[in-house]
Amino acid sequence: MPAPLDDLTQKRVDDWIEHYLITEDEALLRPIRQAVELDIPPISVSPTQGAFLKLLSQSIGAKRILEIGCLLGYSTIWLARSLPEGGKLVSLDIFERNVRMAGENCAFAGVRDKVEFHCNPAERSLNILVNDGVEPFDLIFMDADKVSYPIYFDRVLHLSKPGTVIIADNIIRKGEVADPASTLPAVRGINEFMKMVQEDGRLEATAMQTVGSKGHDGFAMIRVK
Ligand code: DHB
Ligand code: MG
Repeated sequence: MPAPLDDLTQKRVDDWIEHYLITEDEALLRPIRQAVELDIPPISVSPTQGAFLKLLSQSIGAKRILEIGCLLGYSTIWLARSLPEGGKLVSLDIFERNVRMAGENCAFAGVRDKVEFHCNPAERSLNILVNDGVEPFDLIFMDADKVSYPIYFDRVLHLSKPGTVIIADNIIRKGEVADPASTLPAVRGINEFMKMVQEDGRLEATAMQTVGSKGHDGFAMIRVK
């Protein structure tokens, strides 16, 4: 009889997957260690999720990636490592410290030349990218504050083209998103974002629940038709 899906089991199975399939080198361990030292909650993607993002990016042949929220650069490194020669990752974060440290961590990982950081509230950075008419992105990873997902998603669609894949992180939040009585601002933001996806005929989408070292959460995957 398998053990119930308690936190320990989830963590143990993620460890098991990592044992077989995932190698975290010193460059990836740096931002994780720094987050512990700085008392930042462990909210970067897990190793299995980071590897998933890299594989997804490689599978669609992404050459231009947009990341909304870099924290200390853990997912940034995974995504940058997916890029071919000449590929580019534009990464946004509101905090100067995050952009500085993520930049240093990308340099340590040998991918600094592939990443362009923008330090602003994400809405502002996105407006600038839209107004500048930058080339659309192949892959977009939304991972900043969940209250603003509807705003980010609106701008992200202006930075997309047919075939663009958008991953929106943390849309399950231990299942609270499915509680119609929830008044949590993040839950309301995520539900509004889901409604935008639902009502937009240009998009096809699904969402996956995840369990593991980060507990019960999940992501939406959207493709522009
Ligand atoms: C939270 C944010 C994240 O991006 C994440 O991966 C996990 C949790 C949060 O704000 O709680
Ligand atoms: Mg996240």
